[in-house]
Amino acid sequence: MSEAPGQAAASPSTPASAPQRPAPPQVIRREDYCPPAFGIDRVELRFELDEDVSTVHATLALRRAPGAAADAALVLDGEGLVLRSVAIDGRTLGPEAYAQDAATLTIAAVPDVFELRTVVEIRPQDNTELTGLYRSSGNYCTQCEAEGFRRITFFLDRPDVMARYRVTLAADRTRYPVLLANGNRVAAGELPGGRHFATWDDPFPKPSYLFALVAGDLRCHAGEFTTASGRRVRLEIWVEPENIDRCEHALRSLQRAMLWDEQRFGREYDLDIYMIVAVSDFNMGAMENKGLNIFNAKYVLARPDTATDDDYEAIEKVIAHEYFHNWTGNRVTCRDWFQLTLKEGLTVFRDHWFSADMGSPAVTRIAEVLALRTAQFAEDSGPMAHPIRPESYVEMNNFYTATVYEKGSEVIGMLRTLLGDAGFRRGMDLYFERHDGQAVTCDDFRAALADANGRDLEQFGRWYSQVGTPVLRARTTHDPATGRFTLRLEQAPPLAAGAGREAAPLLHIPVAMGLLAPDGSSLPLQLVGEAAASPGETRVLELREQAQSFEFVGVQEAPAVSLLRGFSAPVELDYPRSDDELARLMGADPDAFARWDAGQELARRVLLRLCDDAVAGRELVIDERLVTACGRVLADPRLDGSLKALALTLPNERILGQHQTIVAVEGLHRARQFVVRALAEALQGPLRAIYSETAPRGPYAITQAEIDRRRLHNLALGYLAALGDDASVALAVAQFKDADNMSDSQEALACLIEVGGPVREAGLAEFHARWRGDALVLDKWFTLQAVSGHPDTLERVLALAHHPDFTLANPNRTRALLASFGLRNQFHFHDASGRGYQLLADKVCELDPHNPHVAARLVSAFNNWRRFDSGRQAAMHAQLQRIAGLPGLSRSTQEIVARALV
Ligand code: TRP
Ligand code: ZN
Repeated sequence: MSEAPGQAAASPSTPASAPQRPAPPQVIRREDYCPPAFGIDRVELRFELDEDVSTVHATLALRRAPGAAADAALVLDGEGLVLRSVAIDGRTLGPEAYAQDAATLTIAAVPDVFELRTVVEIRPQDNTELTGLYRSSGNYCTQCEAEGFRRITFFLDRPDVMARYRVTLAADRTRYPVLLANGNRVAAGELPGGRHFATWDDPFPKPSYLFALVAGDLRCHAGEFTTASGRRVRLEIWVEPENIDRCEHALRSLQRAMLWDEQRFGREYDLDIYMIVAVSDFNMGAMENKGLNIFNAKYVLARPDTATDDDYEAIEKVIAHEYFHNWTGNRVTCRDWFQLTLKEGLTVFRDHWFSADMGSPAVTRIAEVLALRTAQFAEDSGPMAHPIRPESYVEMNNFYTATVYEKGSEVIGMLRTLLGDAGFRRGMDLYFERHDGQAVTCDDFRAALADANGRDLEQFGRWYSQVGTPVLRARTTHDPATGRFTLRLEQAPPLAAGAGREAAPLLHIPVAMGLLAPDGSSLPLQLVGEAAASPGETRVLELREQAQSFEFVGVQEAPAVSLLRGFSAPVELDYPRSDDELARLMGADPDAFARWDAGQELARRVLLRLCDDAVAGRELVIDERLVTACGRVLADPRLDGSLKALALTLPNERILGQHQTIVAVEGLHRARQFVVRALAEALQGPLRAIYSETAPRGPYAITQAEIDRRRLHNLALGYLAALGDDASVALAVAQFKDADNMSDSQEALACLIEVGGPVREAGLAEFHARWRGDALVLDKWFTLQAVSGHPDTLERVLALAHHPDFTLANPNRTRALLASFGLRNQFHFHDASGRGYQLLADKVCELDPHNPHVAARLVSAFNNWRRFDSGRQAAMHAQLQRIAGLPGLSRSTQEIVARALV
């Protein structure tokens, strides 16, 4: 990117006196879907890539759709295109024959079958929005999902128009030696003037959002995969030359994903080549373009000294996610963008399952639920709440959300639970059999699963329209005389639901549960009227009514109820059980997720009580039961290091805030800091022992055992460093100095930042000096400072926004500082002075004209403004109004801000 957003035309410091309302943007509604009036059989594109102006020649074979009006005009999408010529069947059209506006090209009279040729000019070097064709580090690349293709050429830019593409790229041979597009390379050669070309042909019909090209000076790390049916596929990871030694993990991850999809779902790859290109400037994580994935470099590049264990896992997961899209997204695609969860929810579900199979199922599940509760539950209770299949949108880019992705995945997970693994597989097979090569809907998916299993999934379908996190209420009674134990389950509308949601249609909710005897053993699960207990220690109850009672027999002593094992439904549980019951589950639940969850609930109660004490000015006293429970976890030989680290990580302040009517910003922070220190003091002995027992014994290795060891080692370091005594600080200093890998280095630096003072300054300076030339590692340097709890964090973040290495031109860098601060640091972002708000709003205003998509993500940090006290509300409201009043505000940011202000 050549242009820096620093030179924004907008002047962010001028407050708008009275926010003017721009013309209401156009709302797109699901119910308005109309099939396209034309289909496109073949697409031929020729790109003349040039530093100044690039030219796109397009030849489209068009056909009036069967059922479409004989006089229907051809309306093509096109934005920011300079039209050079347009011809039908070889005859150039005069300007009277067509009409162009900011978003479309309309040709009134066209035959039923014809060839359309257009020539347009575009300027990729000026494209700072990073959608369509743009430049990153001097290379050309594309991002077309959802509606970027219309910024490349005039087209029916909608996913239900699928066509075969043949693409020729021509460019300067020296500067752009590598020319890539979807499919197979069928021709290449020299051109006059030091230029060359390559032609690519993709045999599979695809929607335009899956189009991709890349041109640049790149190196390839290659490998191979032989499919189950014996076809050899060439695998290529393309990166900038200096990164060629960071590709092996991505390649191995791809091979693992390809094998897994064959074994778990019987799905093979279908082209002879699979390419992945890593780029530095990318709005999202990665993109599943057919045969040519384009990735944010963050999700490709890894070397032990630059990438953490979490980075390695994230790369494996994102590589797999994009690969899995080849079947769930590409071969079977979405009819319209309201169906986005059809491909995203399903593909997230598949990558979750893959991660569970590759690593630890319990750890994977816990991480997923944590992410869901932190981001999706918050979204679902705020102004952006929407169903996994939205009913309307203004800017589609705003609907690539935690709800569509993560809750969408939970909905698929419930189907798997209800149908069982074999039934789910039967349903998936039928889905692919019926719909391969088609653009379909969420209802088509559900019908395939229902039909393959002879099941009625009508009521289940309501999950696709449901808004907000439903509440699952549980109440129990036990009669020792008869041995009867009654579990009454009730579904209630979301807590945040206003009037009108009371009559929410009843959902079909799978509740996986078990009962534990006082000694911790699992009880047989036999309902009254059943001949025998169900097999296993867990059974799935299906709640379909508003309330249902389940009466278990043979329960002599009051049991502890383990509910929502594996988090079997994305609901908020309301079950007022005793702390003792939680402690029993924590110690003995056979479901590792439920054990962790019981611990989180216990910790949450303790923290919320302490928060009240802090607010009321009472002295804070640690609850001994929490200390005992944490001590037991540390000593438990059955738990691996990762599980111990997760169990000992207290609920974050954002999750805690969701359980308060008005978020007590300072109280929560004080309570959490207090508990961390109290636990560190009380468990000092075991923590020190663990820290030395888990010291590295050999060179870095990325195996599960080593990852577990490092997680526990760093968990112990974090607690000890919170004590702030010389001996503990020395441990962090030494680890920072000696680390041979980024996990240990980053965790040590995080500790030094919390400690503050000279050790922080020395650590930060050293890290910066070592990594200043490495963008991905430098991002970590910004993030660690932005998420810190240290008292002067706000000052640091304000200063970092002016650091020479900070730029709004790169989305990763923007997120590293600002999204980390605004979305992850509740205490400091919500500083009562309002200066955190001011900073974020300034940057949104500055960025919006250049990259509205990233600006819209940032501004969502204000979405939950009504959940804070009146002073903070007023301060955030003022910033939102200032942004809303900005002249020329983008549709993306405008939509988020308008919803927040409603
Ligand atoms: N389909 C991509 C995925 O796998 C999401 C994505 C990548 C995207 N880049 C984008 C969505 C740009 C919108 C805009 O999840
Ligand atoms: Zn995806």
